[in-house]
Amino acid sequence: MNRISFLVVGLCLTMLIATGCYYDKADIIYPAPVCDTSHAITLSGDINNILSANCYSCHGGTADNGGGIPLDQYDVLKAYADNGILMSAITHDGGAQNMPKDAPKLSDCDIAKFRIWIDSGALDN
Ligand code: HEC
Repeated sequence: MNRISFLVVGLCLTMLIATGCYYDKADIIYPAPVCDTSHAITLSGDINNILSANCYSCHGGTADNGGGIPLDQYDVLKAYADNGILMSAITHDGGAQNMPKDAPKLSDCDIAKFRIWIDSGALDN
């Protein structure tokens, strides 16, 4: 191998390694959306939004397809939070009917927010 081809091969290898590193770090450069539970999780700031997006179509307002459980009424929601059925329903642990009914499980992030809110006393905050 003469000096030029040695340099060319060397340069190619360097570029290959450099690009390899670049792609390896793509998940650091473009991280998946993080689950932000660093702030205080509240009913008004977090839980209501999740319920509204996933549950009120059956459990809110005038909906009558939620088994007669109006989760938009705080005392009803609080009762299901305190007796463990709400958490069982969204974690699909077998202790309750799986919710949301006939739909995919909530994201781990949403479930984590419910857990924090319930463990903090399921306050009307
Ligand atoms: C498509 C309608 C529908 C959606 C959406 C839905 N539910 Fe339900 N839910 C029901 C029905 C109907 C029942 C009554 C039990 C049954 O028939 O499965 C019920 C029951 C429940 C119960 C009582 C479970 C038990 O075993 O006693 C809880 C808690 C609950 N739902 C929470 C939720 C939450 C939280 C969401 C949103 C993440 C949700 N549901 C979304 C229809 C729904």
